[in-house]
Amino acid sequence: MKALTVQPMQKGSARLDDVPEPPDSDGPVLVETLGVGVCGTDIEILSGEYGWAPPGRDRLVLGHESIGRVLQAPAGGDLAEGDLVVGIVRRPDPVPCANCAVGEWDFCRNGQYTERGIKEHDGYCSERYRITPDYVVKVDSSLGTLGVLLEPTSVVAKAWEQVDRIGGRAHWSPRTVVVTGAGPIGLLAAMIGVQRGMDVHVIDQVASGPKPDLVKDLGATYHTGPLHQAVDAPDVVIECTGVGSLVFDAMEHVGPGGVVCLTGVSSGGRTLDVDAGILNRSMVLENEATVGSVNANRRHYESAAGALAAADRAWLARVVSRRVPIASWEDALDRRDDDVKVVIEVGS
Ligand code: BGC
Repeated sequence: MKALTVQPMQKGSARLDDVPEPPDSDGPVLVETLGVGVCGTDIEILSGEYGWAPPGRDRLVLGHESIGRVLQAPAGGDLAEGDLVVGIVRRPDPVPCANCAVGEWDFCRNGQYTERGIKEHDGYCSERYRITPDYVVKVDSSLGTLGVLLEPTSVVAKAWEQVDRIGGRAHWSPRTVVVTGAGPIGLLAAMIGVQRGMDVHVIDQVASGPKPDLVKDLGATYHTGPLHQAVDAPDVVIECTGVGSLVFDAMEHVGPGGVVCLTGVSSGGRTLDVDAGILNRSMVLENEATVGSVNANRRHYESAAGALAAADRAWLARVVSRRVPIASWEDALDRRDDDVKVVIEVGS
């Protein structure tokens, strides 16, 4: 079968390969892949900066944001042929650590977790894959292939859960949220904020293209200036860029008792001048919290499935701004101004 494979840490090594059918050891559910989303992590893997092949192999099948259709599932279970499904990315470490042992693999303590399409386990960008039922999440059939947005939505569903758990230290009824970055993660974080009835503000640097309208059509407000000009003392900031200056801006300007959730992965090598004393002082005197958040466990996928089911299909269809057949996969990596989420179409 066809699969998009890469040699991790080897720039320019990606190719469309012929690979064996998925091994039975991956699980009894056989899924036909319909589409795979491309995100910043994939670009890093393709650039030779991230990723790990499965033990004993040089190449990894790429793809961790997927939508597929069940071809075979064990009788008597929750899954049936034809169901639209998404595979969870992370698998618990084999030790397992205390978090992986209770299904909180997104908080793995020892780093020995695996991730499909990223770390030591083949991903979903192949014509078919196998999986165990407990790592499959069903999506509302009316979403069709827009279900490819489930994985990125699970990441922000987790971020919102972190915000709520931390905010819940004291009375917590947040009104205003600032989301920095209007890429897919920022837009989906904003979508959940609107679904929660909050006053949502999204900041990005571009003034044209699809992002300003996508934000407005959510019922949120779009800004291109600095955070403190957009909103005074927001209750929540969800930082979706990983840009160091925006991270510190968020920490400096979040409101008293507020929560900053960092979801962007930054590359190192840049330093900033920061008045650490002032930052410390305001964080202490105003009980502010900053938390990092990555990945998602099953609870977050299920919450994300609910958020997508409640979302406007036409809006989601604009988030998936470009679809590229797998035969032309290289076009999917070529960033265009109007791109939001690009999806590689694997099946039909
Ligand atoms: C994925 C996460 C993963 C992270 C780090 C992100 O792109 O969405 O599931 O944990 O990369 O590998």
